[in-house]
Amino acid sequence: MTVKAVIFDLDGVLTDTAHYHFQAWQALAHQLGIGFTEQDNEQLKGVDRLGSLRWILAKAHRQLSPEQESQLMQQKNQHYLELIAHMSPADLFTGVQPLFAELRQNGIKIGLASASKNAAMVVERLGIASQFDYIADANNVVNSKPDPEVFLLAAKGLGVAPEHCIGVEDAVAGIKAINAAGMQAIGIGEPNVLNNAIKVYPTIQALKLTDVLEL
Ligand code: BG6
Ligand code: MG
Repeated sequence: MTVKAVIFDLDGVLTDTAHYHFQAWQALAHQLGIGFTEQDNEQLKGVDRLGSLRWILAKAHRQLSPEQESQLMQQKNQHYLELIAHMSPADLFTGVQPLFAELRQNGIKIGLASASKNAAMVVERLGIASQFDYIADANNVVNSKPDPEVFLLAAKGLGVAPEHCIGVEDAVAGIKAINAAGMQAIGIGEPNVLNNAIKVYPTIQALKLTDVLEL
């Protein structure tokens, strides 16, 4: 395969926001009297805000009105925003800057495909917004991961056919989305969790340009 673009997920791949999403969802679940563990959260990585809330409610066989859902989503997001209020370029994972620089030097485009409505703000805070050739996020798509829409939108925005794109994800739903988009999936995390990825690395720092070019 000739790699022409690498499309990155944001939360949990470029920075540790995955943990803040977990903390905020857990606080909300506990408030509703619903248990919520790190293992539960694994299912919610990459899943959009409404999908995540409904998954938690379904755990307790509960359903709420659209108004109640909207109020709870707002509350979770408020908590999440408080948790990331201090975020700065220091929160970018080690290894991202050198990888981006190498990709650029080799003429490989850099895209973002995030399920988060806060993605633009987070990449701005991390100081990397200008390094993306195209950003696709939850504000621009209808269907959430595992649907391929956000990755396909990123590829389109980059002007690269999906078969020349690699997607990088820390979430089960995200790897499914990349595969469904007809791209090659690289996982960041545990190989036994991300078993549909072609290769899995423990952190983004372990992913090198040579690994990308080898695919
Ligand atoms: C994904 C995260 O990137 O974005 C999920 O993996 C999160 O944990 C989802 O729930 C939606 O984020 P937001 O910022 O739109 O609530
Ligand atoms: Mg993620």
